[in-house]
Amino acid sequence: MTISTSMPGSGPQRIKLAPSILSADFGRLGEQVVEADQAGADYIHVDVMDGRFVPNLTIGPVVVEGIRPATKLPLDVHMMVVEPERLVGDFAKAGADHLIVQAEACTHLHRVLQQIHEVGCRAGVAINPGTSLSVIEEVLPLLDVVLVMSVNPGFGGQKLIPETVAKVARMRRILDEGGYSAELQVDGGVNEATARDMVDAGATVLVAGSAVFNDKETVAEAMDRLRASLEA
Ligand code: DX5
Ligand code: ZN
Repeated sequence: MTISTSMPGSGPQRIKLAPSILSADFGRLGEQVVEADQAGADYIHVDVMDGRFVPNLTIGPVVVEGIRPATKLPLDVHMMVVEPERLVGDFAKAGADHLIVQAEACTHLHRVLQQIHEVGCRAGVAINPGTSLSVIEEVLPLLDVVLVMSVNPGFGGQKLIPETVAKVARMRRILDEGGYSAELQVDGGVNEATARDMVDAGATVLVAGSAVFNDKETVAEAMDRLRASLEA
């Protein structure tokens, strides 16, 4: 789904929603991806965790391959792994469209981003709450996506860290002043109470896990509520 909101000084912005399947029912993952697609998702966000960069252990290339036939939407693969360069080829082959690596996990960040482009994917970098935006300064021209983490990565259902709203606004300024067209994603604790603040700060893609996949409502109802919170 794409929402238009007016942002002061910058005209209408297209806001994209990327449901994170981390909170989905893994017993019927394909169906949940279809539900998100039909509810108007723009991307399907796939959280890859290796039990080393973050304590949790989740999805590998086989699962990406498994959900690939369920949707034509871009698969937005967030690699919370050490040495992501070892897995870039496998995820690309499995059907990933966007590969987002964690800045903290890359010794040779520039090289990894080149590698992602070489395998035909869009390249992104995620930045943890405790990491300065300056770590990506030198690679901005290579980036299709900047992901500002609004929680410490590893688990769904955490509370958004309030200081990250101002961080998103600072990142927005850096992108605008440099004339960079990278999408600005936020991930973690995004729900109907926080989404609007992130959009006002300049985010263009909202990742949401537990706000979209939960046992209180259908995926379509949840997506509608998130959309409504942006339009309010
Ligand atoms: C956190 C993951 C997120 C997570 C978000 O480490 O990167 O994508 O699924 O979950 P919520 O939206 O529940 O905070
Ligand atoms: Zn994520």
